[in-house]
Amino acid sequence: MATESAERGNVHVLLTAVVLGLVSLLLQIFWRRIIAKNGRGDSPPMHTGWFPWIGCAVEFGKAPVHFIEAKRKEMGPVYTLLVAGEHMTFLLDPEDFHLFFQSPNVDFQKAVQLPVQRVASVTEESFFTYHTKIHDTVKGKLAAGQLTSLYPKLRQGFAEGLDHIKKGDYELHDVVRGVMYRTVLDNLFGKGVLPTLDQDKYKELERHFVMFDDLFEYGAKLPPFFLREWSTSKGWLLKMFGQVVQRVDTGGEEEKKTVLQSLLSVVDAQHAPNYSLLLMWASLANAIPIMFWTLAFVLDDKRVVEKARQEVMSTVGTSSEVREESLASMPYLKCCILEAIRLRSPGIITRRVVKPFKVKNMTVPAGDMVMVSPFWAHRNPTFFPDPHKFLPERWLSADLEKNVFLEGFIAFGGGRYQCPGRWFALLELHLFLALFIQRFDCKLQGAVPDFSPLHLVGTQQPVGPCPVHIENL
Ligand code: HEM
Repeated sequence: MATESAERGNVHVLLTAVVLGLVSLLLQIFWRRIIAKNGRGDSPPMHTGWFPWIGCAVEFGKAPVHFIEAKRKEMGPVYTLLVAGEHMTFLLDPEDFHLFFQSPNVDFQKAVQLPVQRVASVTEESFFTYHTKIHDTVKGKLAAGQLTSLYPKLRQGFAEGLDHIKKGDYELHDVVRGVMYRTVLDNLFGKGVLPTLDQDKYKELERHFVMFDDLFEYGAKLPPFFLREWSTSKGWLLKMFGQVVQRVDTGGEEEKKTVLQSLLSVVDAQHAPNYSLLLMWASLANAIPIMFWTLAFVLDDKRVVEKARQEVMSTVGTSSEVREESLASMPYLKCCILEAIRLRSPGIITRRVVKPFKVKNMTVPAGDMVMVSPFWAHRNPTFFPDPHKFLPERWLSADLEKNVFLEGFIAFGGGRYQCPGRWFALLELHLFLALFIQRFDCKLQGAVPDFSPLHLVGTQQPVGPCPVHIENL
């Protein structure tokens, strides 16, 4: 009797599985037919995946950076992916980049508002009221001509941080973070305004920021419920900024204000901690990993490291101060930095289509997201021969003194809301690299780690450790 009912149970399970399988197959066929029938006029070719709404989210999510290029080979330079309800159209032909950055039919603010709301709890109303003012304030404070006033403290902070590093074995990322985070925060927010002076409190700050940064991209997409640790760190950082903004005086002459003071004079009091957190993220999240990659790539190539060392020694030697003017005599170092930025640029930059947007002979409908990929643009052999190689010399033909980059280079975005921190980023990176080479003989203890293909927003992160041995010169 028992065997009979068990067999009947098995048949039931089997039948249910078959029926569910058939229903799912029918749904998928139905879904594909709906899409084929209701196609989107002369819109770009679309990859919908097999499932309604979800689209190709699962395939895409496995290694999004590589998926973008695989689909370009299959579908051409303009195509749309359906990913979790969002139509994402990729423009991968450099001829179309100017349209992406300049067309009034696509919008920066409408692309980033929701992610900003999710990661930093800034309301829609506050974002649209204050975003342009914030952008212009940061741009003004960090314009190329304004950086001389920031330079002495930046140099002092980096030099003091590096002087603490003695002969030994280290993780490269820890060395870079350990010195740069604290100095950049003191520089842009005011010395000790964030808890940078007390070692224990600072370590706590760094731990929460690293967590916030690591899962930033997921925080922009998923409800906090799925990201417990990330939400805890975000809460900690917002609480810390809540206390900081109470203490910051926003009066006085504009020229003498820190970037934080200027920011706080233009935003609403309610969201002051939230915008401060965003400023902190923007100022650390891309530049500091780029310093890591620059050092890793330079140290990995004997020829490059020798050339860089020769340049530093012939300009400042082992003991002179690295003055701002000295940096102009070290162009090879700047080439190394730009080459690292080229190879580790953001996977995507986004805009929201607000009016039908024509590209080639196609129209991208309003509501879609459009994206360009600096990461892949910088691997185009037409502009960057031998694109996968770290070749700083390719930058010698760019007019770097006038800050003109190579054609096809879009690491800092473009148009009205291009990265306002780019000149500060290049200055801090140039200075740090010069000080590091001046002080240390540093050797990699293994291969340069690969990058994680999981993240599309911002500079790629290394997947594994990068141990180094440091000797003082
Ligand atoms: C190598 C380092 C950096 C890279 C590759 C980088 C790249 C970018 C990119 C691609 C954007 C979006 C632009 C667009 O969509 O057109 C952006 C925005 C931004 N960046 Fe940077 N950035 C770097 C360093 C910095 C630094 C050091 C700061 C500040 C000190 C900064 C502040 C900002 C801000 C505030 C925005 C948002 C602008 C807005 O919302 O209007 N960035 N950055």
